[in-house]
Amino acid sequence: MKAIRILFVASLLAATLSCAERKPSTVGASSEVERRVDQLLSRMTLAEKIGQMNQVSAGGEVANYADALRKGQIGSILNEVDPVKVNEFQRICVEESRLGIPLLVGRDVIHGFHTVFPIPLGLASTFDPALVEEGARVAAVEATGQGVRWTFSPMLDIARDPRWGRIAEGSGEDTWLDARMAEAMVRGYQGDLSDATAMAACIKHFAGYGAAEGGRDYNSTFLTERQLRNVYLPPFEAAVKAGALTLMTSFNDNDGVPSTGNVFLVKDILRGEWGFDGLVVTDWNSMGEMIDHGFGTDRKDVARKSLEAGVDMDMMTYGYLSHLEELVHSGAVKESDIDQAVRNILRVKILLGLFENPYVDVEAGRAVQYAPEHLAAAQKTAEESAILLKNDGVLPLKADAVRNILVTGPMADAPHEQLGTWAFDGQAAHTVTPLKALQERFPGKVTYVQGLKNSRSRRERFDDVVAAARRADVVLVFLGEEAILSGEAHSLADLNLKGAQSDLLAALQAAGKPVVATVMAGRPLTIERDLPHCGALLYAFHPGTMGGPALVNLLFGDVNPSGKTPVTFLRTVGQAPLYYSHHMTGRPYNGETLLDEIPEEAGQTSLGNTSYYLDYGAYPLFPFGFGLSYTTFAYSGIALDREAYGTEDTVQVTFTLTNTGACAGTEVAQVYVRDLVGSITRPVKELKHFERVALEPGESRTLTVGIPVADLAFVGLDGVKKVEPGEFQLWVSGDSASGKPVSFEVK
Ligand code: NOJ
Repeated sequence: MKAIRILFVASLLAATLSCAERKPSTVGASSEVERRVDQLLSRMTLAEKIGQMNQVSAGGEVANYADALRKGQIGSILNEVDPVKVNEFQRICVEESRLGIPLLVGRDVIHGFHTVFPIPLGLASTFDPALVEEGARVAAVEATGQGVRWTFSPMLDIARDPRWGRIAEGSGEDTWLDARMAEAMVRGYQGDLSDATAMAACIKHFAGYGAAEGGRDYNSTFLTERQLRNVYLPPFEAAVKAGALTLMTSFNDNDGVPSTGNVFLVKDILRGEWGFDGLVVTDWNSMGEMIDHGFGTDRKDVARKSLEAGVDMDMMTYGYLSHLEELVHSGAVKESDIDQAVRNILRVKILLGLFENPYVDVEAGRAVQYAPEHLAAAQKTAEESAILLKNDGVLPLKADAVRNILVTGPMADAPHEQLGTWAFDGQAAHTVTPLKALQERFPGKVTYVQGLKNSRSRRERFDDVVAAARRADVVLVFLGEEAILSGEAHSLADLNLKGAQSDLLAALQAAGKPVVATVMAGRPLTIERDLPHCGALLYAFHPGTMGGPALVNLLFGDVNPSGKTPVTFLRTVGQAPLYYSHHMTGRPYNGETLLDEIPEEAGQTSLGNTSYYLDYGAYPLFPFGFGLSYTTFAYSGIALDREAYGTEDTVQVTFTLTNTGACAGTEVAQVYVRDLVGSITRPVKELKHFERVALEPGESRTLTVGIPVADLAFVGLDGVKKVEPGEFQLWVSGDSASGKPVSFEVK
C-alpha cells in the first residue's frame, strides 16, 4: 500500500514537473490542439493507436486498402497521387472507420511536383533562399492539388563526397548554406498551415547519412558526436526551429547504431534538447533493416527498439502493426510510449486541418498543374542555378549573328534526363530541352546531330557530327549524366564524363569552330580533362522542366550567370572527400614537388613532408562558392566596426562591391570566418553569410553585414556549444578560395 502511495505521489510529481517543464511546441501546436489530441487519444483502442503508426505504400486498387482503412490500421499512405483515389481513401477513413481519423498522404516531392525545378544541389547553387522558398511553395500548391499533404523533403544531409549519388538531393557540403536552404524549403512547403495548400515538410535523413564511407549509398558512417553537432546537425536544428512538422530517420548506422534505433539522436537530441514535438517516421523499411545491420534479432525486436528511440511511424516494415500489441501485453513496451507517438501523429493531422478538410478539390487541383507562373519560377530558378565554370570570351553568344548552330550531345534533347532524380511526377512531354528551346528561338538555323545516344555510349568515330561542326559557326554540346546515374543507390566510383563524351568534345574542338559545353549532371563530375577542349563550360545540376529556355537565355546573355557551386569540384575522384571547410593539418601543403617534378635520385624525405597527393597536389578544380559571370566584380574597403567584440555582440562588416565589367550582373558575396585557436582545431574557413547583389556595369555599392558573434559558437572540448574567445579572421569574397582576411578578437 505504502509503495503504491509513493508511486502515486511520484507520478503526480512527474506530471506536475512535465507540465511545468513543457517546452513550447516546435510545430506551433496550441493548447487547444493538445486538448483535441488528448481527447481523441482517450477514445482510441490500443489497436487503433498502433494503426495510426503504420504507413504503407499505395499501388493498385483502393479496394486493396479499404478493409485496413476501415479498421483503422493505416495512419498514412505514400505514393498515391490520383486525387480521386485519395478522396476515396479519405472517405473510407472519415466515414467508415470508428473514429473517422483522416489519412496523411505522403510523396517524395523533392524539387517540384509536375513543374520540376532544378535538383536540390542546383537549388543550393542559386544561393537564393527566397527563390527556393517560392519554388517549394509552387511544389506544395501543385502536390496538395492532387491530395499530397506531406512531402519527404528537404534532404539536409551534408555531402562531401560526390561519389555518393544522393549528393544530388541535398544542398552540398556546407552547414550554413544547408541550414538556410532548409529553412526556406520548410517555410515554402508548409506555408500557412491553415491553408489547404500547406504540405508538411519532412526533414531527412536523421542523421549523418551523407557521410557514407567511400560515398557508397547506405554505407556506415563513423561521425563523432562533435562532428555531428558542429557540421551535420545544425541544418536539422534550424529546420526544427523553422517549424518543420516531421522528420525521417536515416538508413545508416553511425558508430554502430542505426538511426531508427538511435536513442541518443532521436530521443535525447531531437526530442530532449530541441523539444521537437512533430512526427518522426522511419525511412522505407529502415526499421526492418536494423535486422540486416545486426542490431536486432527479428522484427519484434527492432519494432521495440524503434519505439524506445522515439520513432512514431513505421514506413513499410509493418513492425509496429504486427508486434506492438503483443509487446505491450508482454510488458516489453509501455503503452505510454505508444500514446506519445500517436500524439505526435495526430498533432500533425490536426495542424494540417485534415479533420476539417480531408478532401481535395479535384478540378481546382488539376487547374494549377504547370501554371504559367510555376513554369516561370522554375525557369528563373534554373537560370540562377547554372554555374559558369569557364569562359574564354566565346560567351555570351550573339543572337543576331547566329546563322548555323550545331547542337549535339546526349543531353541536348533528353527531357526525362534533365529533370534529374526524384522527379516521379514530372512529365517528359512538358519538359523543354535545350534543343527545343533553340529550335523555337532560331527557326531554320539549328542543326541537330545527336553524336552519342546516351552518356554511356562508346564510339570511335564522329565523322558526321564533326562534318556538321565544320559547317556550323558555333557548336553547342550538351554532356553530362542521365537522371538515373545519381540519386538513391546510384553511387559511382569514377566521376569522369562517361562513355565517349570526352572524345566527342575533343573531336568537336578539332573541327576548329567555337565549342561551348553545357554539362547537366546530378553531381560535380571530374571535368578537368575536358576543360581545354571547350571555349566555355556551363554547369547545370539537372535543371528541371524549364532547363532548356533557362540555359539558352544564359548562353545568349539574356541572363547573366550568377550560380555558385555549393560543393567542391574535384580534379580527380581520388581526392574525395575534399571540401573547403577542412581543418588545418600540422603540415599544410605549400606547393611541394609533384610527381613529374621528382628528380631522378630523390631521397625519401626530399620532397617536403606536407599533406598532399604526389600526383594531384591538394587543391580542387573549383572551390566551393565559385562561379563566373559575364562581368567581373571587385571587393574593396573591407572593414570591421571594431577590433574586439563580446560574445553577445554583432560584427559589422562593411565592404564595397563594384561591377568592373561591361554588363549588368549579380554577385553572390560570401562572408567566411576562421577561429584561429580553439579548445579543438577549427575549420580553415566557415561560411557565415551570403547575399546576392545585383549591379549595373560600373556600379559600386557599399554594404554592411552583421555577423552575430553567437554564430561563431561550436561544440568544443568540454562538449558545450559556445563561442571561445580569441583571434578570428574574416573574409568577404566571391568564393571560398579568394580574398584577404581582416582580423578581430572576441573577448
Ligand atoms: C527511401 C529514401 O531514402 C527516402 O529519402 C524516401 O523519402 C523514401 N524512400 C520514400 O520514398
